[in-house]
Amino acid sequence: MNEDLLNVRSLTKEYINKRRIFSRKSHIFKAVDKISFSIRKGETFGLVGESGCGKSTTGKMLVRLEEPTTGKIYFKGENLTDLNEKQMQPIRRNLQMIFQNPYGSLNPKMTLKQIIEEPLKIHKLAVNNRHKRICQLLDYVGLQSAFLDRYPSEFSGGQRQRIAIARALSLHPEFIVADEPVSALDVSIQAHILNLLIDLQKEFSLTYLFISHDLSVVRYISDRAGVMYLGKIVEMADCDNLYDHPLHPYTKMLLASIPIPDPEKPFEFVTEDLPGIQVSRQKHGCAFYPRCANRIENCLLDKPELKEISPGHFAACHLYTT
Ligand SMILES: Nc1ncnc2c1ncn2[C@@H]1O[C@H](COP(=O)(O)OP(=O)(O)OP(=O)(O)O)[C@@H](O)[C@H]1O
Ligand SMILES: [Mg+2]
Repeated sequence: MNEDLLNVRSLTKEYINKRRIFSRKSHIFKAVDKISFSIRKGETFGLVGESGCGKSTTGKMLVRLEEPTTGKIYFKGENLTDLNEKQMQPIRRNLQMIFQNPYGSLNPKMTLKQIIEEPLKIHKLAVNNRHKRICQLLDYVGLQSAFLDRYPSEFSGGQRQRIAIARALSLHPEFIVADEPVSALDVSIQAHILNLLIDLQKEFSLTYLFISHDLSVVRYISDRAGVMYLGKIVEMADCDNLYDHPLHPYTKMLLASIPIPDPEKPFEFVTEDLPGIQVSRQKHGCAFYPRCANRIENCLLDKPELKEISPGHFAACHLYTT
């Protein structure tokens, strides 16, 4: 499990926000800012962070649904950012994505059969035994082939996410980005879908990028994880280290906010945020500076780089590097 399937180097995505009526300039906004990480073959790499920190943008760039502004994505050693659309075509099959909202990601006008069949038709796969392949895929995700002529609206949320997983599996991918695949589901259904993803990973040697804002879910499914803050990875480690020995003040803040299921204890939202300070994207120094309770002078001057603090445990924080 040590071989890298995916290697991301200085990946950046900039969006240009059109200029407002009284402003002369268009504003360039870095949704993802020079992030580097690798995902080993057969592992699940979790990506956590607050809403808007760039998780989905990162996932979409890895499966080439979004074009990176700069940076490189190596898949099995090949730099995908060098390839044109025609060269990407055979590789696309290997890179699939499951989206957060199973209500929105399935075409409501297509039957279950048409939804699963579509990628097989596009990639001209299983031409002679398509029906058999569709039934096999449904079996993998625990759905009956008797449902083939039903429309997405006739299924529950959990069943729709199973359909989305079957569709993602249809092209025998090696890598799947699961972007908040359970956050729109009830807690009991969440566990079923997470366990299904784990079983399928073992069965088909899949590698996952698992995106979520829910730290408990990420710990349950991931081997290693990265914590994102305003477009940057601020901490990265194997899950045991990250959750039991967090380094970055932001990771500590996120972990402290996980509610503990103790009926005796009243719930308190624990945060080290300084009162009255807003999230801001500042040009100099550490992006977390305005919210950090442990900040030191250097944090305002220098942007901290992601550095290996202990074997396999990376953090971008001046507390550990100065
Ligand atoms: N097409 C776009 N044009 C302009 N800005 C965009 C575009 N797509 C995303 N953004 C911005 O980039 C930032 C990162 O968005 P992204 O969807 O990656 O965040 P996220 O971490 O997935 O958030 P969430 O947890 O809410 O899904 C956000 O501020 C978002 O508004
Ligand atoms: Mg998102």
